[in-house]
Amino acid sequence: MKIKKGIFITATDTGVGKTIATLVLATLLKAKGFDVGIMKPVQCGGKDAHFLKTSLNLSDPDDLINPFYAPEPLSPHLAFRRAKITIDQHKIIDAYQELQKRHDIVLVEGAGGLMVPIREDYLVSDLISDLDLEAVIVSRLGLGTINHSLLTIHQMKNLGIKIRGIIFSTLNSKKPGLPEQTNPDVIKKISGVDVLGIIPYFKKTSSQEIMRTCSNTIDLKTLLKAQASPKNNHYEKLDKKYLWHPFTQMSDWLIEEQLVIDEAKGCHLKDTSGNTYIDGVSSLWVNVHGHRHRDIDQAIRDQINKVSHSTLLGLSNVPAVQLAKELVALAPKGLRKVFYSDNGSTAVEVAIKMAFQFWQNKKKLKKQKIVYLEHSYHGDTLGAVSVGGIDVFHKIYRPLTFEAVKWPSPFYRKGNWQSLEEFCQEYLKNAKYFLENNHKILAAFVVEPMIQAAAGMLVWPKGILKSLCELCRRYDVLLICDEVATGFGRTGKMFACEHEGVKPDFLCVAKGITGGYLPLAATLTTQKVFDGFLFEYKDLKTFFHGHTYTGNPLACAAALANIKVFKKERTLYNLAPKIKFLAEGLKRFYTLACVCEVRQLGFMVGIELVSDRVTGEPFALEKKIGIRVCQELRKHGVLLRPLGQVIVLMPPLAIKKDDLETLIKETYEAIKKITG
Ligand SMILES: Cc1ncc(COP(=O)(O)O)c(C=O)c1O
Repeated sequence: MKIKKGIFITATDTGVGKTIATLVLATLLKAKGFDVGIMKPVQCGGKDAHFLKTSLNLSDPDDLINPFYAPEPLSPHLAFRRAKITIDQHKIIDAYQELQKRHDIVLVEGAGGLMVPIREDYLVSDLISDLDLEAVIVSRLGLGTINHSLLTIHQMKNLGIKIRGIIFSTLNSKKPGLPEQTNPDVIKKISGVDVLGIIPYFKKTSSQEIMRTCSNTIDLKTLLKAQASPKNNHYEKLDKKYLWHPFTQMSDWLIEEQLVIDEAKGCHLKDTSGNTYIDGVSSLWVNVHGHRHRDIDQAIRDQINKVSHSTLLGLSNVPAVQLAKELVALAPKGLRKVFYSDNGSTAVEVAIKMAFQFWQNKKKLKKQKIVYLEHSYHGDTLGAVSVGGIDVFHKIYRPLTFEAVKWPSPFYRKGNWQSLEEFCQEYLKNAKYFLENNHKILAAFVVEPMIQAAAGMLVWPKGILKSLCELCRRYDVLLICDEVATGFGRTGKMFACEHEGVKPDFLCVAKGITGGYLPLAATLTTQKVFDGFLFEYKDLKTFFHGHTYTGNPLACAAALANIKVFKKERTLYNLAPKIKFLAEGLKRFYTLACVCEVRQLGFMVGIELVSDRVTGEPFALEKKIGIRVCQELRKHGVLLRPLGQVIVLMPPLAIKKDDLETLIKETYEAIKKITG
């Protein structure tokens, strides 16, 4: 059986027999016919790596087996600092991946215990997570074992590290006493972790001796059991029985094979059958730094230990305050106040209601109308639908909505009868005329700045947003920029408004605000708008709006961590070359006869498919072309969700270049196959 996956061997402490346990497991696995590789990524003093290599007759180069060596037997952070070596985990990960290619299974022996610092900012537990490995714990038998073992297990569970089992080592030749005899059972009972067995005390560690003493006592079946992932459609059945999915024709859903996601790591999602996929649309445009990002995970855990929810109605909470300060610092200048809600639609509803009431409070009673753009999408609640311009989604609900004013989209399609310059001039001339003549009844103009995402990634021509903003200012119409999709780096800047130095009256953010972890939204506005609501209590000019989970501390803690990671990992700086790489890779799509336009702004991409490029004729709806391309992609380990006949790429900003390359390549191939 080819397993092609590693197991990390960690321990409850240093000197508890990790190396011997690694040798025992490797020897037993070899005897079962597995080609076993070994890795000791970080070694401080001693010859463990060499000992394992020679004992197991391995021919891998030393720098793969042990990429980092420091001569002094100290904690790695200290030993390597004193040896003037900086440990780079990427080198370890690369070496591991190479070993993985060479062997059926690779045992990776840690350094000391789980929480040992490899660098001051990087622990053994971080390495286990980065290698995405399950772990075996080695614990010594004797007094104190229960406490050490349970602490290690508890922390691993806390960190989301899967435990394959615990193995006990005997460190002296004394006859086992009561603790040695009873510890394993107690630990299993309390923690639920499988016991893989007890390694006896060895005078010499020959493979014959290991086989003689351990082949019947060490439980390899349990060690290997999670490796195999049989097709698991239990949850798929339950899903079909109980769930109703959003934006989904359930008659199709019920008869087609569906994926149930069970886990994720970085930019990959894993289904219940163990298949992994590149998360090509950031789990619907929300994920930023990858799934299970250590800092965000930890921030949420830390917050859980304080308070998970308390209301903002009549009270405040620490993360909500801290986040408001950060958002104001991050947002375009002039936005000073933060109003929280739970999702993109409500962020827009808040802005619309605030804009409306602002003029009412000011006694400009006629300023009531909201202008929105053709093709716009601002969410699915009725207020957001009222300013929605996509007929397929919105038309049926029109009788339920308020009347708003639709204005043409600034999207310029290549091949338009006008030149781009003429189009823009005319667009702005008309907008000026419209605002000049109607501003007395207009409360606000709501836009998705720079790109209309849900309409199929319709990118605006340069300069329109800035000019529209100036016109709104000139004619006293409040500008609402809905950055629910574009915010938090998607377009290459933190906010799309920054592309044109625009300072709106309202900025709506959601989706990426928590890095894709928890539902949270914010509507930012100016001091002027805020002051427009300051009256006497009895005047009843309060902003009468608020959701139960507004300013939820857990979500705010996640958002704070998300913003910190942007700075710590220089996310936007590192994104720039990836945006270029993506742009390069997308050029090839024009060689496909069915691709009529590839639109990109930063990490937001729409590839529009048509049945006839000359006439622009779309594919017949019943062909479900977008859906079929995405279904094909699943077979190749990529998850996308189309917008009708537009294939959307919107990967997490943290995606690695090789995954980005795979995403582009597989998308190309899938379109070619399905439309060819
Ligand atoms: C621009 C824009 N506004 C609002 C929304 C609605 O956000 P939510 O689904 O969180 O309500 C979306 C969702 O895609 C969006 O793209």
